[in-house]
Amino acid sequence: MKVTVVGAGNVGATCANVLAFKEIADEVVMLDIKEGVSEGKAMDMMQTAQLLSMDTRIIGCTNDYAKTANSDVVVITSGIPRKPGMTREELLGVNAGIVKGVAENILKYSPNTIIVCISNPMDTMTYLALKSLGLPKNRVIGMGGALDSSRFKYFLSQAIGCHSSEVEGFVIGGHGDTTMIPMTRFATYKGLPVSNFLSAEKIEEVAKSTMVGGATLTGLLGTSAWYAPGAAGAAVVEAILHDQKKMIPCSVLLEGEYGQNDICIGVPVILGKNGVEKIVELPLNDEEKAKFEASAKSVQGNINTLKELKLV
Ligand code: 2OP
Repeated sequence: MKVTVVGAGNVGATCANVLAFKEIADEVVMLDIKEGVSEGKAMDMMQTAQLLSMDTRIIGCTNDYAKTANSDVVVITSGIPRKPGMTREELLGVNAGIVKGVAENILKYSPNTIIVCISNPMDTMTYLALKSLGLPKNRVIGMGGALDSSRFKYFLSQAIGCHSSEVEGFVIGGHGDTTMIPMTRFATYKGLPVSNFLSAEKIEEVAKSTMVGGATLTGLLGTSAWYAPGAAGAAVVEAILHDQKKMIPCSVLLEGEYGQNDICIGVPVILGKNGVEKIVELPLNDEEKAKFEASAKSVQGNINTLKELKLV
């Protein structure tokens, strides 16, 4: 099985490295516009093969889309990352043109591929790729919810004092500092609601830390994070390529679900060989419904900007 990662920056290279190291695909192609960068990173990764007992073939190329031909899944990470103080939404103007061009080139060589979008603003870029390519909605997926849910589990585990793998929790809504919704009511530790172990104030603190999780890292690193975003992209690819039927929150096109239409936003979905195989409708209470509506309104604002720019 073949996966292409477009953009060999921090996020793209990390995603490719996880895909290769975990042998999720047989072949991973990295494509970048900067001469030599993906070739160099691919060679560096291949030189870990013996050390890590890894058999994946990693290929780097500069803007040569022919090398991406017949990819089963393509991950798009292209575009600029945010700097400290910036919102993901501020990247829209620059990244929209880049993502649209990349998506069109990809489809020429891999007409049956499934696209996983990481570029920001992620929900809007997912909508742009889906609409500009005219693909069926199961084949274009934004990975934001996978990342935000992983961050939520990290903050929960830190608060409880346990391993991330011992907690369950997920985040829905837009992949934005004010739009994501950590679903605290459904979060559990060893199957028990986290409210058995944490005060209401502590749970609120965990939710807030999750929402600004990306911004906190941008402040520390001077650019946006890459280990968790790259690994989240790889987890989404793995669920698809290995037909895992896992439930992972992702940004997908809603057509009536959650009372929303013509919008890509994060909800739990079942991922398998066909991409999005099912959208899972959660029994939201009134407060959660209101938060989801506000989140959708904000994402819709960005989608309207795409329409004004005549990109979709
Ligand atoms: C993040 O949240 C890059 O959007 C990504 O770190």
